[in-house]
Amino acid sequence: MGIVIAVISGKGGVGKTTTTANIGLGIAQNDKKCVVVDFDIGQRNLDMLLGLENRVVYDMVHVMDDGIGLKQALIKSKISDNLSFLAASQTKDKSVLDSEKISKLIDSLKKDFDFIILDAPAGIESGYEHTIEFADKALVVVNPEVSSIRDSDRAIGILDSKSKRVKEGQEVDKFLIINRINSKMVQNGEMLNSDDILDILSIPLIGKIPEDREIVDASNQGKPIILSQDSQAGQAYKRIALRVCGEKVDFVDVESHKESFLQKVKGIFS
Ligand SMILES: Nc1ncnc2c1ncn2[C@@H]1O[C@H](COP(=O)(O)OP(=O)(O)O)[C@@H](O)[C@H]1O
Ligand SMILES: [Mg+2]
Repeated sequence: MGIVIAVISGKGGVGKTTTTANIGLGIAQNDKKCVVVDFDIGQRNLDMLLGLENRVVYDMVHVMDDGIGLKQALIKSKISDNLSFLAASQTKDKSVLDSEKISKLIDSLKKDFDFIILDAPAGIESGYEHTIEFADKALVVVNPEVSSIRDSDRAIGILDSKSKRVKEGQEVDKFLIINRINSKMVQNGEMLNSDDILDILSIPLIGKIPEDREIVDASNQGKPIILSQDSQAGQAYKRIALRVCGEKVDFVDVESHKESFLQKVKGIFS
């Protein structure tokens, strides 16, 4: 049976979809069968990050309501055979989601995949509660900003009170991803450092991702940054994907990272 992992945050725009695409691909490249599911109803963009936007014919609402089979709706990634994708509905009506139907959908996915990664809407959105309902684990994405951390604490509160596992007396294990770290700003004391963030949220860290301009280009091209061997962010995502798979991988300190000469030169000319 597969493990269901929700990628959550308090506010939007912190990197949940980027994280879902990269970690999903990283898990698939580590020889595990993985499906990434876009739960951001009405605002889907995980398809674009995976370069699959032109392939979407059916979405999860077709599966839940119209008798379309999962085989028809799931889209295989062009990059890895182990990675599949299920699109969110484009409807603006968020009430299309219903616990019983989602439970059935997730149960079917658990039979076929080792990992089911759910890309959540922001914690304040109505679809959020449906995304966390059947999660076994959660990856909490924050940016090193007070507002992002405060809002994520609220999203964790909802997870810890409304998910099925918690209602059954179990826990949903939560792991923190700090995204968009600017090492220069941290060193200058202009950005919260990860120790401060871990103190506030007190959930274990699973990885830190540096700010990387190339992430935006990679997303626009539908080629997740994890494919780029010389990207710090891509390598950070690779390490997180391995940790999600249960492997022990040493932490690399991206906060005290000094730019190499080549990166400096690239920075000057970009
Ligand atoms: N580490 C990063 N460095 C630079 N840009 C990033 C990074 N992570 C995410 N972004 C950019 O931030 C924006 C929001 O990311 P996204 O994954 O869509 O957030 P969310 O799903 O939480 O709303 C996107 O334009 C994305 O390319
Ligand atoms: Mg998103």
